[in-house]
Amino acid sequence: MIDETRRIFKELDSKNLRILTGIEIGMRRFEWVPIEELNKYTKLPFDKLEYRLKKLVKNKLVIKNTKSYEGFQIYFEGYDILALNAFVKRKSISEIGSEIGVGKDSVIFEAIRQPKLAIENSISVIIKVYRGNKTGFNQLTKLSEHIGKGDNFSRIYAARLAAHREYEIMSRLYPKVSIPKPFDQNRHVIVMDLAKGNLLSKTKLLDPEWHLDEIIKQVKIIYSMGIIHADLSEFNIFVSEEGVQIIDWPQYITQEHPQADEILERDISNILIHFLRKYGIKRELKEQVNEIKGV
Ligand SMILES: Nc1ncnc2c1ncn2[C@@H]1O[C@H](COP(=O)(O)OP(=O)(O)OP(=O)(O)O)[C@@H](O)[C@H]1O
Ligand SMILES: [Mg+2]
Repeated sequence: MIDETRRIFKELDSKNLRILTGIEIGMRRFEWVPIEELNKYTKLPFDKLEYRLKKLVKNKLVIKNTKSYEGFQIYFEGYDILALNAFVKRKSISEIGSEIGVGKDSVIFEAIRQPKLAIENSISVIIKVYRGNKTGFNQLTKLSEHIGKGDNFSRIYAARLAAHREYEIMSRLYPKVSIPKPFDQNRHVIVMDLAKGNLLSKTKLLDPEWHLDEIIKQVKIIYSMGIIHADLSEFNIFVSEEGVQIIDWPQYITQEHPQADEILERDISNILIHFLRKYGIKRELKEQVNEIKGV
């Protein structure tokens, strides 16, 4: 699917980008943006606009409604294009590579980031593209349904919110906590450093005690900043010879959360269970939690 997006991305010209932006802005006021609005925004004559919209619909960047009145909505793929375009324009990325991971709520791609100075090498980064699927955001979906918006709109809204939340917390934690460096965010997409090593779930560690200590150390630093990850497991931790890096932050909570203690214990317990099952390492949950809390 991203190959398709990439191909379309290369072919899109500034007029089509303007139409997509016009629909995005129009969707603040209209469930389905009428062509008259797009004519006002893009200054393109109706016949040209119609021709271009037809192609955008065919490429599945835009959806057309013909039920109640004729109008247009931007689709996720169209929204991807606007975000990628913003990154390219401000030189956050210069090239998009292949898909390297899929989560429940996102798709991850490799990308190239050009250095600021010509003497530096370009670096591999990743882009995390949210899809607005997570059940945790159901409340938001309901909220936006109340104001008369459809499912596509709600998902885009939820995706944008999740990306914003994840980028904001990563920027707060980095570089105190060992996480991939966050570079940029636009709409529902984040650019960040490629994590070092491999996922804990997919690795057989040579010195598991050392890596377990490294994880506990990181959780302790995170906790000292008032934060709890809230989805910590072997699937959200990268391990390498240098240490560990924790990813996937949008569901984080603060210590003020009414279930903070429980959630912290669940995080640690996930990790301890993994190290017990895979490496036979036995550690007391309470002891580790107290170590993290510094009591
Ligand atoms: N910075 C990164 N570097 C390398 N790979 C990454 C990075 N971030 C994510 N990935 C890969 O993409 C996968 C999904 O990422 P992430 O866990 O952040 O998304 P998610 O949609 O919230 O996933 P889920 O809910 O299934 O845990 C990860 O398991 C990992 O394989
Ligand atoms: Mg994950």
